[in-house]
Amino acid sequence: MTGFPADWLELREPVDAVSRDPELTAELRAWRQRHGRLSVLDLGSGTGANVRFLAPVLGGEQHWLLVDHDPTLLARGDGLPRRWMTERGVDPALEWRLLDLVHDWERLNPPDVRLVTASALIDLVSAAWLERLARSCREWRAAVFITLSYDGAIVWEPALAGDERVREWVNRHQRTDKGFGPALGPDASAMLAILLRKLGYWVMLRPSPWRLGSQHAALQTALLEGWVEAVRQLDPEAVGWLDDWSAQRRLLIERGDSRLYVGHWDLFAQS
Ligand SMILES: C[S@@+](CC[C@H](N)C(=O)[O-])C[C@H]1O[C@@H](n2cnc3c(N)ncnc32)[C@H](O)[C@@H]1O
Repeated sequence: MTGFPADWLELREPVDAVSRDPELTAELRAWRQRHGRLSVLDLGSGTGANVRFLAPVLGGEQHWLLVDHDPTLLARGDGLPRRWMTERGVDPALEWRLLDLVHDWERLNPPDVRLVTASALIDLVSAAWLERLARSCREWRAAVFITLSYDGAIVWEPALAGDERVREWVNRHQRTDKGFGPALGPDASAMLAILLRKLGYWVMLRPSPWRLGSQHAALQTALLEGWVEAVRQLDPEAVGWLDDWSAQRRLLIERGDSRLYVGHWDLFAQS
């Protein structure tokens, strides 16, 4: 998947919200108590799932700079009703900025940023980009809260012959260029932890996997379709076995008999 349709982000948002590691979120809340007005930079914001989850956690006076290169997603986020925010007693100032995180990094120049956040982003980026991110966070003296980074684990139940073959192709696809250079894919969280520790940060990493059941049939189906497409892109010859596997998987999902574990990690770093 190269572009990220708003429907896809909408589908994953509630699952992301319950999958985030609660201990890490509590650490962030504790960190926040030591700060007054908070300036947050959210990278690859999409329609703003991260601010919707984090603004009520952080509380108090907040200014968010939300950055993405997709104008449709930003417009959708900006147009979302603010009712749920006021219902949760928060009213963050939101600034949506259209910017490419690869080519326009120097233009970011976030004012007074104290916290850098991202969700479901860093598995798309290259080692060089991640190093620049870590260095910038250090220069800004900002804490870092980067969640829901895919780690390469895909476990279906019941298991089928073909699961492992698909997982291997998907993880190979994860490492292809998503606009940032060769992607780190499953290695991104561990690498960011190493980079930030070298720069003097105290880093916590916690698993935040998706555990999908029959109530998540739409998300399971979307993942199935995306992964089949990923295998086909890399191996156009994959027809017979892939079609069989996908038909069996689809049937299990439709019957409500399919469970799916997808590994992710959350990271919090402070100095
Ligand atoms: C998987 S989505 C996550 C969106 C959002 N953080 C969420 O959790 O719903 C990745 C986001 O990164 C954005 N993105 C990808 N490449 C980008 C780039 N080069 N510059 C800015 N944003 C980018 C996409 O447009 C998309 O909104």
